[in-house]
Amino acid sequence: MPLLAGALLAAACGRNDEPQLTALQVDQPEGWADELALNVPVDLNPDPNILEIELEAKVADIEFREGLTTPAWTYGGTVPGPFIRAKVGDTIIVNFSNSLPEATSIHWHGIRVPNEMDGVPGVTQDPVATGGGFRYEFVARDAGTFWYHPHINSAAQVGWGMYGPIVIEDPTDPEEFGDELVLMLSDIGLAEGSGEFLPVDTGGAFGDLFGREGTVLLVNGKVRPTLKVRAGKQQRWRIINAARARYYTIGLPGHMLVRLGGDNGLAARSEEVPNLVVVPGERADIVFTPSNEPGETAMLRWVPTERGFGTVFNRPRENMMAIETVDEAPVIPAPIPTELREIEAIDIADAVEHTLDMTIDLNNNDVVMGINGIPYWNFEPVQARIGETHVWSLTNTTIFSHPFHLHGYFFQVLDDSRVPEWKDTIDVPVDSTVRIAIPFEDRPGAWMYHCHILDHAEAGMMGQLYVLP
Ligand code: C2O
Ligand code: CU
Repeated sequence: MPLLAGALLAAACGRNDEPQLTALQVDQPEGWADELALNVPVDLNPDPNILEIELEAKVADIEFREGLTTPAWTYGGTVPGPFIRAKVGDTIIVNFSNSLPEATSIHWHGIRVPNEMDGVPGVTQDPVATGGGFRYEFVARDAGTFWYHPHINSAAQVGWGMYGPIVIEDPTDPEEFGDELVLMLSDIGLAEGSGEFLPVDTGGAFGDLFGREGTVLLVNGKVRPTLKVRAGKQQRWRIINAARARYYTIGLPGHMLVRLGGDNGLAARSEEVPNLVVVPGERADIVFTPSNEPGETAMLRWVPTERGFGTVFNRPRENMMAIETVDEAPVIPAPIPTELREIEAIDIADAVEHTLDMTIDLNNNDVVMGINGIPYWNFEPVQARIGETHVWSLTNTTIFSHPFHLHGYFFQVLDDSRVPEWKDTIDVPVDSTVRIAIPFEDRPGAWMYHCHILDHAEAGMMGQLYVLP
């Protein structure tokens, strides 16, 4: 049945005993996102503008593969960790304790925290040792989709399950965006047919070079969960790529997606796209309009994304999430506003220029990555002053793409073909240069920047930025 006719029919009939529904008021199907449910933490603070939670890092047995348990590293005993949700301007307090067998920390990816809350051991705080704790407190200044993860031995710790989603709501967002669903995408490296982790050094130097993708795909910690949708009834997906190395291309045949924004909330305009790539660390905020026939089930698949040498060659597609269109009459999709947010172009007339060349050195079996040929352990800081604007040319002449992430500040990509938006993570494809403009508005301190393929970061592709008062 053509979508529109079905929708009108649905709207016209209604149910006898209830006030007539317009198509837009139809709910999501019963239990639509049950299989994707996230752990919601208890707010210990009575103040409506403060979210205060306890969070314990601990090893917990989790059944990723049916009938097999994995001793996952978790926040609060679940993968992903608790879903932190607050509104712009709220204060977030996290009383963190560490029951893991090694030191850890929490970095609030994308949130403009004060420097001492940034969670980088040895730079902004001491490592949180086993049995220790730390009180994180900051104000959520920006609306958007963010996440948290450790910043120590991070390829391993994130790979074992340590990540959690954060949504900072803007109460003025239009309702037409639809019911919200957080989709935290990740993978976990389990040995074949078992619940045990693969060894940390799997693949040796090639593992460092390629980045260790897990063997089991997870959406909100689940293997191939089912999402229920109603034809025409929109859903707002907040996608977070929490995988240590994997890129995701999101798309469903026969569907257009409307991208609203990503890292720092809404972009200037919405745009219709057939699919979109979300690189490690990055977020995407989209409206998904189901347009399959009632009764159909489609698969959202992981498809290989070109990110350099051998990353697409001969690699199979994999099922990630089933999308079941319930057997009910379609509804009329709501129109999505085009103009979303005022985003002023950054004035770069007096900008300080830097070139950051992302480099890989191969010596026999040793892989050393760096910025301008210098690995992190010898880093030379980039310096900036509050009030300055910088333009960084991120160049990549290596054989792999690198998702570049900057702590503490948002930037704009200098590329007229892109819809203007604020970002903290951007892919730098093989043989390309990406120019970003960064205003350093406040919050002096030592901030990290690095490749968010965490194996690359640990192989040395990381540096520090000193922002002076
Ligand atoms: Cu999610 Cu230093 O990063
Ligand atoms: Cu990289």
